[in-house]
Amino acid sequence: MNISTRMISLTMAYLAAALVSGHRALDGILPQANQDECREESNFRGELNDDVGRNVTQELKCFAACSLMKLGIMNEKDGTVNMTRLDELIASHTPGKDAADVFKTTVVEPCMKEVKKSTDYCEYSYQLIACGMSKVP
Ligand SMILES: *[C@@H]1O[C@H](CO)[C@@H](O)[C@H](O)[C@H]1NC(C)=O
Ligand SMILES: *[C@@H]1O[C@H](CO)[C@@H](O)[C@H](O)[C@H]1NC(C)=O
Repeated sequence: MNISTRMISLTMAYLAAALVSGHRALDGILPQANQDECREESNFRGELNDDVGRNVTQELKCFAACSLMKLGIMNEKDGTVNMTRLDELIASHTPGKDAADVFKTTVVEPCMKEVKKSTDYCEYSYQLIACGMSKVP
């Protein structure tokens, strides 16, 4: 793996992991006030650390859905993913267009195809994030 690929991978890891692991990583994307609202709304009381992936609760899934909605990635009314908004976020958290494109083609596009849309927004959100994390090298 060359240096530029490594840099892209780190950025992808940061983005994909942000919602379910590492408080600090999430802080870089979702403001603390929104995180607090999402904890309230979802009743998620756990810590956002590496253990999260091993104890997947309904509360965590709904915290994920709330986070995606606060970020404007998921529409609150119909659970659709706003690709325009997602592209904006990716652009602002990746170092340049090439990195953004790699992230989109290796993570976002496959996951949008693989994860079946569900009316259970909590489940759908968690599946999207879990898929994203599984694609990070
Ligand atoms: C998982 O999280 C729930 C809710 O916070 C907690 O009650 C339960 O004990 C945890 N389970 C494990 C195996 O850590
Ligand atoms: C999707 O996001 C874009 C950019 O933030 C916004 O302008 C647009 O209104 C959003 N569309 C919907 C349907 O929410």
